[in-house]
Amino acid sequence: ANDLRLGVAGLGTVGASLVRLVSEKSDALARRCARGVRVTGVSARSRGRDRGIDLSGIAWFDDPVKLATSGEIDLFVELMGGDSGAAEESVRAALSSGKHVVTANKALLAKHGVELAKLAEENGVSLNFEAAVAGGIPIVKTMRESLAGNHVNRVYGILNGTCNYILTRMEREGLAFAECLADAQRLGYAEADPTFDIEGFDTAHKLALLTSLAFGCEIDAGAIYVEGISSITIADIEAADELGYRIKLLGVAQRTETGIEQRVHPTMVPKSSAIARIDGVLNAVAVDGDTVGEVVLVGPGAGGNATASAVVADIADIARGDRTPTLGKPAAELEPYKPAGMRKH
Ligand code: HSE
Repeated sequence: ANDLRLGVAGLGTVGASLVRLVSEKSDALARRCARGVRVTGVSARSRGRDRGIDLSGIAWFDDPVKLATSGEIDLFVELMGGDSGAAEESVRAALSSGKHVVTANKALLAKHGVELAKLAEENGVSLNFEAAVAGGIPIVKTMRESLAGNHVNRVYGILNGTCNYILTRMEREGLAFAECLADAQRLGYAEADPTFDIEGFDTAHKLALLTSLAFGCEIDAGAIYVEGISSITIADIEAADELGYRIKLLGVAQRTETGIEQRVHPTMVPKSSAIARIDGVLNAVAVDGDTVGEVVLVGPGAGGNATASAVVADIADIARGDRTPTLGKPAAELEPYKPAGMRKH
């Protein structure tokens, strides 16, 4: 009776993995959360499609907004993607009607994160997004909670599994860019529109969220310099190799004397460095804290199960009653974003 009831919107790679995971691990989850956790409603674009999951006993909603506000759920899991439209509407509707929200949607949060965090606070509910940054790596919780005793000066890393997978296979196997991208799509790593991956926007969305967590400031994805990997050739990779480097797509955010600098671009990293050895779909995030020093987390950055693992972590926190604010502190206490290079008069 006290079960936490989930409504899952979006049954793509991550959504289908999540529904399967919640059912397979229901006993372990119930013990960990001291209450049952089950999916009671779902919505997706096509009802007929075979996703290899059992949806019997779960209510189907054609309209995600109806699911988001339904009396049959306590927590809305948004896995549709997109920074506007159905994803935005349904998340707003869920929060406004007092439902907790868990999302993997970095594009939505990069654009509306502070506003949505405020809406969650006003309604006394949680908005959690572990799965939105670096897939299965628990970096959001690490920054929000475990590094609380630190002043962070820099956060950087490999934040897109698709790009790292492509660069790794181009280097190892000499395969063409397009072929590697097609495989990344087949494996469920890429965004619905893979332009977001290969042009660096997905990395930028994740970096914008990390920047806010690291520096306690508002989110400003528009301030990021962005360059992707679509023009990288095998000749570039070979030239870097001869000089002792590998090419990685990095997202970097750091404090400077004038403000915060955020950038995303292909970077030559020395082969001897730890970041050069992060291969395939793995991501890595390094955080430089003044108390602890550098902390580096490595793990799968994309894929259904890896991402669903992070979604479940957020669900479990909410089930246990954790109410840590979305961005680590109340939205009204976030500092305005101050870009590097602008002097205050
Ligand atoms: N398309 C993303 C990636 C998925 O490749 O990293 C995880 O956010």
